[in-house]
Amino acid sequence: MLRSVILGVGSSLPARVMTNSDISKIVDTSHEWIVERTGIHARHIAGEGETTRSLAVDAAKKALVSAGVAASEIDLIIVATSTPDKTFPATATMVQNDLGIVQGAAFDVQAVCSGFVYALTTADALIRSGQATAALVIGAETFSRILDWNDRTTCVLFGDGAGAFVLKAAEGNGTNDDRGILASKLRSDGRYHDKLYVDGGPSTTKTVGFLRMEGREVFKHAVANIASVIDQVIVEAGICVSDVDWFVPHQANRRILDGVAKKLGIDENRIVITLDHHGNTSAASIPLAFDEAVRDGRIQKGQLVLLEAMGGGFTWGAILARY
Ligand code: UT7
Repeated sequence: MLRSVILGVGSSLPARVMTNSDISKIVDTSHEWIVERTGIHARHIAGEGETTRSLAVDAAKKALVSAGVAASEIDLIIVATSTPDKTFPATATMVQNDLGIVQGAAFDVQAVCSGFVYALTTADALIRSGQATAALVIGAETFSRILDWNDRTTCVLFGDGAGAFVLKAAEGNGTNDDRGILASKLRSDGRYHDKLYVDGGPSTTKTVGFLRMEGREVFKHAVANIASVIDQVIVEAGICVSDVDWFVPHQANRRILDGVAKKLGIDENRIVITLDHHGNTSAASIPLAFDEAVRDGRIQKGQLVLLEAMGGGFTWGAILARY
């Protein structure tokens, strides 16, 4: 049985760090409020010349080095982003160009904060069907560019960055002992498309627009949806929550992570949390957190990892993999 094995990871953050106290000079908020309600202390904000494309390319190069895979071997690039450099073409094609890759296919996936889970599941399906043999899956965002910096209910939450995985096809025996992606589940419910959205677009306002969110409404659905999809993936794989070595969640709010952990009985020491210093980086948050935990030695080869996310649409999903 073909498996998509995670051979390498990499990430990239803009140079500039913005603390809560920096934001409190722009809008009526405080370090205490932001920490108590979200767990965020600081986030990175893209400067001039730093874009989704440049962050994605930097993360991809590091992932290729960590995987020991040459760019010339890559035949699939998927970039998960809601903040592309241009409305079209796909940022993935610009990444393909910047890496000097002339074979295979490159496209973007847009599922907001669930984008990385959607992109990884898509890449896994293309690898297992034989359409691709080596993939770069990237989550890259510059949400600072679509924030309304007068709106304290949203501008305190988000940050910029990118993370990348290199996946390669390998034969497995079809059991949970295999390395690679073992199970995944994607979900969406479009009835809630107007709870977290951007108020502009090429076909409507002909502008880019700003992020708008009914935070309390999103929060309400987040814990239930995430817990339910994790449960489905775990049942499908025939394992228990306690078998998972590391949970690498989308980083939206510390209270959401705690709520899911409590509901499913997850040991909080097994959750990788980078929210405090990254903020919510949307599709980039999972690979950014994963890369940090690989680099500091927490996530080891052969361990079981569970990735999960929920975001605009609403979209949500979870993936179980053996690293
Ligand atoms: O990644 C995609 C998914 N996104 C999410 O999962 C985000 C989900 N939502 C959340 O994380 C939370 O709802 C927020 C962090 C956005 C807000 O926290 P909350 O506990 O739901 O606060 P709230 O919206 O109920 O607001 C409570 C109070 C309000 O004042 P009143 O009406 O009680 O007087 C707000 O005006 O806090 C006020 N407030 C603020 N005060 C200081 C809202 N934003 C701020 C702020 N600083 N930045």
